[in-house]
Amino acid sequence: MKILIAQLLNQLVLSQCVIAQYRYQIIQIFILRSMSVSKVQKLFFRFSYYKNLDLTSPYPSFQARDMTTTHTMHYITKPPCDPKIMTFGAFHTDHMLEIDWTEKMGWSRPQIIPFKSFSIHPFAACLHYAIECFEGAKAYKGPNKTIRTFRLDCNMYRMKQSAKRLSLPDFDGAELQKCIEGLLKVDQDWIPDRPGFSCYIRPTIIATEEALGVRASSRAKLFVVLCPVGPYFPSGLKPVRVFCNTTTIRSAPGGVGGYKVAGNYAPTVMPLKEVQQIGFHQNLWMLPDGLVQEMGVCNLFFFWKNKQGERELVTPQLDGTILPGIVRDSLLELTRDMKQFKVIEKKVYIQEVIEAISEGRMIEMFGSGTAVSIQPIEAIGYNDKIYEVKYDPKLNAGELSHQLFDMITEIQTGNKPHKWINVV
Ligand SMILES: Cc1ncc(COP(=O)(O)O)c(C=O)c1O
Repeated sequence: MKILIAQLLNQLVLSQCVIAQYRYQIIQIFILRSMSVSKVQKLFFRFSYYKNLDLTSPYPSFQARDMTTTHTMHYITKPPCDPKIMTFGAFHTDHMLEIDWTEKMGWSRPQIIPFKSFSIHPFAACLHYAIECFEGAKAYKGPNKTIRTFRLDCNMYRMKQSAKRLSLPDFDGAELQKCIEGLLKVDQDWIPDRPGFSCYIRPTIIATEEALGVRASSRAKLFVVLCPVGPYFPSGLKPVRVFCNTTTIRSAPGGVGGYKVAGNYAPTVMPLKEVQQIGFHQNLWMLPDGLVQEMGVCNLFFFWKNKQGERELVTPQLDGTILPGIVRDSLLELTRDMKQFKVIEKKVYIQEVIEAISEGRMIEMFGSGTAVSIQPIEAIGYNDKIYEVKYDPKLNAGELSHQLFDMITEIQTGNKPHKWINVV
């Protein structure tokens, strides 16, 4: 009898362990099946990487009030606001922001200076070991010529995480934001005021220790450069063809895919060239087991009907291998507030995607990112087959991606106040 009771107790403990292990999935399935859209959003999936941003630093930081400005003596002729000329990353503005750091002295005063090339020691750690992280944000001009930054605090937060991951010096993100806004004011004539145009902001930190060897750098340089940019595509939106890469991965569990570090990008150049040679625009990154991650330098969204016929907007969950995109986060919040369909962050496998397309359940697919805003997808290539994805040729997008593109553009360039906009 005693043995039987012990065996029963043992079984109970074991089953509880299994339940505990799968509790999250079990509750998720149960809740998803049985609750209304808004309740699901509220209860379970309202996680945001960018909620309660802590931009402070435990170490002494530079301060925006100490910033000095040296104006250029040679103003550069501005390019015309033509999308074919004002392409991404082609032109720099008149000034840049520079702040140096050494282990002994800490951060220097922030300086706005005329745009110039650096002189850099050939042993500098950033040149050899990619000890470098960066950000990509945008500023816009509203209809009344005010300068508007979009969620720049989120970029500051993400940059602090990237810097920490590379043992680069920490800083106060709110202070860097103020310095960047100071730079935008100095170069405000460079921010185009045409619809679809903006000013791309590229903050960067490089390790500048003048010695070879893989270790934390004792010197660093933080700099911020600006470039005026036209719409990524003159038509606003343009669907792309993506290739599901089954042989090369962008990022692996335990790696640094979740950080915006330079070393993530160099190895993607060759696979990009290869897929472009076979008629695709971008790679769809996934793990060898088919776990879908991102598309090129964009986060991914699938708008489909699930097997029960309910509409769901699904995006791969942040598992450390995916960059926590700021546009991704914005789209999740906008669509959750629409309360028209379920919005879910979860593991997505390529097999589910192919099944949804083949069964006619895929409504639309798109990518998101600061540079493109929204990137509709018209076809995916997987295992020697092309799967066409629906979109409206008149809109150059699906209905939802078109609506979201308009919503986000209105927030960025419109005149209305919005919590994501800081008027400089
Ligand atoms: C790898 C990668 N994924 C996604 C994104 C989109 O992020 P965000 O929406 O913050 O621009 C970017 C662009 O920064 C990226 O480099």
